Amino acid sequence: MEVVIDRSETLAALAADAIEALVTRRSDAVLGLATGSTPSSVYDELVRRHAEEGLSFAGVRGFLLDEYVGLPEGHPEAYRTVIERELVSRLDLPTESVLGPDGRAEDLAAACTGYEQAIADAGGIDLQILGIGTDGHVAFNEPGSSLASRTRIKTLTEQTRRDNARFFDDEVDAVPQHVLTQGLGTIMAARHLVLLAMGRSKAEAVHQLVEGPISAMWPATILQMHPHVTVLVDDGAASRLQLAAYYRETWQSKPDWQPL
Ligand code: PGA
Repeated sequence: MEVVIDRSETLAALAADAIEALVTRRSDAVLGLATGSTPSSVYDELVRRHAEEGLSFAGVRGFLLDEYVGLPEGHPEAYRTVIERELVSRLDLPTESVLGPDGRAEDLAAACTGYEQAIADAGGIDLQILGIGTDGHVAFNEPGSSLASRTRIKTLTEQTRRDNARFFDDEVDAVPQHVLTQGLGTIMAARHLVLLAMGRSKAEAVHQLVEGPISAMWPATILQMHPHVTVLVDDGAASRLQLAAYYRETWQSKPDWQPL
């Protein structure tokens, strides 16, 4: 696990660098896309590189991490709508090349199985962008999630619904209770995980992720078992890291030829 502590603009540029290197190397790369506040700056930077530097996503495919159950098609906070608005429509990435779990399916369990199959058919995810919840969730794998789980239905915690109420006019009751989410086992199968966290509210979750014991109580801790994880955090999110000085020194002394 590589931990980089820096200013948020630098972190966004580093994540964009990793994505640019991938899609330049493999024009049909498969990206795992997160929604929420955290990845917005990364997406803005990719859009800038597309507009100003010609970085192309024409052959890229994308898979969303999760989706609310029951929001009508085109709802502004449905993650399929959010990713279309924030990223896909601003790049040369065809809409049909990006899939998400279908939270409106009549048979939700079948939608989950089908989603796993679609990821497998695409050859698996090359690079997965991740945020982290204040309760240590990744995607919507809430505390208590099986560390080997695959895409399935989950019930959001009260904490997550409160955290996400800001997207629903601050009405906690408007935040759907159920979601479809890639499982921790699904996420662990991606070849490179790039997790970003900004702000003090994420400090305990980041401390557990990087330095805590592996436990379903802090689902993100399973990432410690992944061979290629990059954790990009600002000073606030890093404020509880016990080995912060070591991570900073490691990053500063990293040779240029060694990519993320
Ligand atoms: P945020 O959410 O990026 O909106 O803070 C992260 C998450 O819940 O995984």
